[in-house]
Amino acid sequence: GRSKQANDAAPSVEVSLHHMCAILQNLEQVFIRAVNQAYPQISNPPSVQIQLSKMADYQCNVAMALAKILKENPRIVAQKVLEAVGKSPVIGSLELSGPGFINITLSQSFIREQVTRLITEGVTPPPVEPITVAVDFSSPNIAKEMHVGHLRSTIIGESICRLLEFVGHKVLRINHLGDWGTQFGMLIAHLKDRYPDYLLSPPPIADLQGFYKESKKRFDDDEEFKKRAYAAVVQLQAHEPDHVQAWKLICDISKAEFDKVYARLEVRTEACGESFYQSRMEELVKDLDSRGLLSLEDGRKVMYAENCTVPLTVVKSDGGFTYDTSDMACIKYRIHELGAQWLVYVTDAGQQQHFKSFLACAQRAGIYDPSAVRVDHVTFGVVLGEDRKKFKTRSGDTVRLVELLEEGLSRAEAVLREKGRHEVLTPHEFEKAKTAVAYGCIKYADLCHDRTRDYIFSFDRMLDFKGNTAAYLLYALTRICSIARTAGVSQEALLKAARTAPLELAHEKEWKLARALLRLPDIILRLATDLYLHPLCEYLYELSSVFSEFYDNCYCVEKDESGTVLQVHTSRLLLCEATATVFKHSFALLGINTLDKM
Ligand code: ARG
Repeated sequence: GRSKQANDAAPSVEVSLHHMCAILQNLEQVFIRAVNQAYPQISNPPSVQIQLSKMADYQCNVAMALAKILKENPRIVAQKVLEAVGKSPVIGSLELSGPGFINITLSQSFIREQVTRLITEGVTPPPVEPITVAVDFSSPNIAKEMHVGHLRSTIIGESICRLLEFVGHKVLRINHLGDWGTQFGMLIAHLKDRYPDYLLSPPPIADLQGFYKESKKRFDDDEEFKKRAYAAVVQLQAHEPDHVQAWKLICDISKAEFDKVYARLEVRTEACGESFYQSRMEELVKDLDSRGLLSLEDGRKVMYAENCTVPLTVVKSDGGFTYDTSDMACIKYRIHELGAQWLVYVTDAGQQQHFKSFLACAQRAGIYDPSAVRVDHVTFGVVLGEDRKKFKTRSGDTVRLVELLEEGLSRAEAVLREKGRHEVLTPHEFEKAKTAVAYGCIKYADLCHDRTRDYIFSFDRMLDFKGNTAAYLLYALTRICSIARTAGVSQEALLKAARTAPLELAHEKEWKLARALLRLPDIILRLATDLYLHPLCEYLYELSSVFSEFYDNCYCVEKDESGTVLQVHTSRLLLCEATATVFKHSFALLGINTLDKM
């Protein structure tokens, strides 16, 4: 038989017949092979990086680094690499340039074939080794308001899940609810006083925030109440049925509120909150204690690890567990029981210390091995108001998410009315447009910046029909969708044309658009690797202007003065179709609904 090793050593550079090609990835493999062939004596060649280029389509600079190692003239090295590239269906021509760059021009037949594939098959995922990924996102706290920080986690997390699912990973969407801890003592004690028959008739608490505040006030002011609150926690953790029932009632009210937000935003998560880990925390603490990993500090049991300046509080002086304890039990569960090979946590950057500490301690305890499991703490910045201060209501309260989403809807409605859209669209279409624009804008405004930076929440900005906003891009997409429609060419006819005749590309702007469309797989691959989503938004914005250049220079449909269609350029309509496909698919990854009309 064939030697398996030899097979693995030679990276496949064939363009799969079933996928859209991730061009950068493919070229990288081509050049790695060429370098190995040209310089087999170098055991550790420099990494090959391919970039987009103004001079050609792409450029490879590996010869410069290689020449340094070899102490040779980079042009000569580049020439040798270039000659070793051999035949590739992706590459049209290679050219030596400057001090030792290799310019890469794509093959025209490859471009035609790939755009056609895009139209007939849609966007297909680039090949990725599938693994199990646990994505911990949204994760609000029971009985407290879900705030804009949780909104960011929800939006970013949902998009990351969609992306990882699309490339073929098994994604566990986990809502790590804050549903455990001492605040439940006072909530339960207050519930028993206010609704003594809570076991028989579920209390009609509409305003859980208010309820929380009331019980907190009693907890702070009333010593006797405080004692009962503490006793209630002990009972709850001992699984006393009435207390468990009270806890469940409170959780259900909160969860129903959260679910309203998830339903509106079309977000899917499985709840698995801190309470789930109670028995696992007990076991974990016993284990850590018996192995001498915990030390006593002011009555608390703490854990230190290398490079972790702030220790974890594993057991409080009253014997209770903390956020630290639950995350230790939780990481153990995800790795060793769920079999996750990649852990993603989406939280605000303020929690960095907590994550550093428990990850270091989990490593020290032998729960987590960084060489076997990848962990990403996907952080994001603070949401600011237009005054650049922390986003709050005028009275200084946290903004209720449902109210924020409602405001988004009415703002979107006002903008669409101002544009006279209600006169053009049916009431049903208008309603759909309003919802897609409102939620789309909120999501896009969050996703289009580098997530680690703070961002200013401004309805005016996000609903602007100019600039890199969802309002602009969603509108641009409806325009693209309408081109074939107004030419009277059906979707079926377009598909048939794509299947039967080769795509004609002639005009420089047609080629430019086609090349831009084919960048999507590489962008998806990059996002699914580094979990930064804004490059996709930047790409969409760029694509919209490349499309405009094309549309301004290339008639898709020619009409006479009376408006009668004289000629339809099918290949150009196909380019419109391919552009719409890229937009729709990208928006779907961002969790944004698109529209045919708006
Ligand atoms: N409930 C936490 C908060 O509101 C977020 C939880 C994040 N997940 C985790 N495993 N720590 O800040």
